[in-house]
Amino acid sequence: MTETIKEHISEIEAFTANTKDEVENFRIKYLGKKGILNGYFAEFKAVPNEEKKAFGQAVNELKDAATNKVQKLKEELESREEEKGVYGDLSRPGEPVEIGARHPISIVKNQIIEIFSNIGFNVSEGPEMEDDWHNFTALNLPEYHPARDMQDTFFIQTNPDVLLRTHTSSVQVRYMEDNKPPIRTISPGRVFRNEAISARSHCIFHQVEGLYVDKNVSFADLKQTLLYFTKQLFGKSKIRLRPSYFPFTEPSAEVDIYWGLETETDYRITKGTGWLEIMGCGMVDPNVLRNCNIDPSEYSGFAFGMGIERIAMLLYQIGDIRMFYENDMRFLEQFKSSI
Ligand code: DAH
Repeated sequence: MTETIKEHISEIEAFTANTKDEVENFRIKYLGKKGILNGYFAEFKAVPNEEKKAFGQAVNELKDAATNKVQKLKEELESREEEKGVYGDLSRPGEPVEIGARHPISIVKNQIIEIFSNIGFNVSEGPEMEDDWHNFTALNLPEYHPARDMQDTFFIQTNPDVLLRTHTSSVQVRYMEDNKPPIRTISPGRVFRNEAISARSHCIFHQVEGLYVDKNVSFADLKQTLLYFTKQLFGKSKIRLRPSYFPFTEPSAEVDIYWGLETETDYRITKGTGWLEIMGCGMVDPNVLRNCNIDPSEYSGFAFGMGIERIAMLLYQIGDIRMFYENDMRFLEQFKSSI
């Protein structure tokens, strides 16, 4: 008899359970009213006197083993439940991760940087708060030069020497002051103009400036570089350069790309011509090189400048420049990009 009790005890020790029901069934089997333990208690009277002691001890051991086991299993299951409370159901499917969107201005800026970095241009930056020298004078716009009126300037308080830069051309000057040719750099950044805000213009916008200075840089180099750029960014391979005027370049030109006249939108945005103006450019004026301590008899260079908003509006067919600054999630969420 004691042998079978010992077998029960080892059975109890080996037992494991995953659910409350399994624990409960186990409890009923051993400790329930009609359970194994009570069965042994009922037999106690019939046990011969000399065996009673050993039998009683064995039954007590069985009782302790079963009671402890039930207690232990219950605690284990409860602590597992607590974990579930913290982590939820660990086997449930994962929640979809929302991919963030980049601002369209950043996407286009990064595209432009990538295109130019592939042909050896680095990226440079300058301050948004500038002095008169870097924004105007060094760029061949001395005081009282009428071309200063081309760009309505925000001055800082009453000091006319400190202003918010009106274009990224100021970075050209800083870069040439600090670096010797050969120079190949593009300078993206924010610029500021005292202009009324409308669907087409804003008082804050972004530009990318390009500068290439070396020996024997020619207008043909400029044209090829721009052609490469427009092919890469727009997938369009027809451009034209219209003579224009900028104080810091001579000769100067405005660059148009042939957009085409396939859709009604094409007609509208090109005013029926098929051509779109995308930037200004030219050969760096010798005065500008001299102002930056570069000898114009030894070196020549080209420069160009474009507005990022305008290009983003073309690429994404955005009709109102104000959309870029309104932080409307419904607008921004549409721009998922890997760049
Ligand atoms: N700075 C000019 C503007 O803001 C753009 C520009 C034109 C930049 C010609 C250049 C250039 O570097 O060569 O309108």
